[in-house]
Amino acid sequence: MTFDFRGKSALITGAAGGIGAAVAHLLGAAGAAVAVTDVALEGAQIVAQQINDAGGKAVAFKLDVSSADDVERVTAAAEAELGVITLGVTCAGIIRIVPFLELTADTWDRTLAINLKGTFLVFQALARRMIEAKQPGSLVGLSSVAGRGGRVSAVDYAASKAGVISVVRSAALAFAPHGITVNAVCPGIVQTEMTLNIHRERAKLSGITPEESLAKLASSIPLGRIETPEDVAGAIGFLLSPEGSYVTGQALNVCGGLEFD
Ligand SMILES: NC(=O)c1ccc[n+]([C@@H]2O[C@H](COP(=O)([O-])OP(=O)(O)OC[C@H]3O[C@@H](n4cnc5c(N)ncnc54)[C@H](O)[C@@H]3O)[C@@H](O)[C@H]2O)c1
Repeated sequence: MTFDFRGKSALITGAAGGIGAAVAHLLGAAGAAVAVTDVALEGAQIVAQQINDAGGKAVAFKLDVSSADDVERVTAAAEAELGVITLGVTCAGIIRIVPFLELTADTWDRTLAINLKGTFLVFQALARRMIEAKQPGSLVGLSSVAGRGGRVSAVDYAASKAGVISVVRSAALAFAPHGITVNAVCPGIVQTEMTLNIHRERAKLSGITPEESLAKLASSIPLGRIETPEDVAGAIGFLLSPEGSYVTGQALNVCGGLEFD
């Protein structure tokens, strides 16, 4: 599918690398003006520069999605620079591999503040502005196959990702009268820094190498290969595009067949 987002403006969180950067590149190449946001400003600036060098339009912003003030400030600044943002994708996220009995309340709070509250805050801020401007749009939140089931060593992460699906459903109902669709995607095992870190930590716990840990998991994927950030970005592009405009309130597994429900 060739996407055409000319004339649209988009804001992506967690866009300094991994899935967020792939989404920013896809939208930028398809003609959208892109606000590339991340708590890691330098990485966001590099991605924005790459989009601009390729002939697109992108601006980088430092944004910590767990801060309501930051979300308000950056969504306002992005709109001032790029016009009303009608496409939003929340990719900012963290994971720690900690056994259930060892997880601290502080780690729980931090994970939920970024993965779940951050999604809510960004959806709320962007939808408010679209509704005020009377413009339809589309939002996508990053959930995970982990949000479909349990994770013995990432209870906080799995709960945050199940929560993202719930926020998506509520937002879809709340914003449908304004022509704003809201969906989640649930990736499986994606080749990004997050996945590499997981396997460094898992390997420590189980006494094998990170490569052995990742290979073990990869062998369980029905499609037989690890997912790329571009695999996820393609599905998100569809949900944001006019072709996906009758899909709302859904959580789409993009996982090579790892999960069915
Ligand atoms: N990698 C996977 O296998 C996988 C699988 C399913 C779901 N996901 C989800 O997809 C999303 C992107 O994951 P990824 O693999 O690209 O991870 P990544 O670690 O490569 O990228 C995450 C980005 O989020 C940013 N970030 C962290 N805290 C932030 C904060 N407070 N405010 C703003 N930005 C912040 C990081 O700086 C980083 O650039 C995450 O929500 C993740 O949970 C990833």
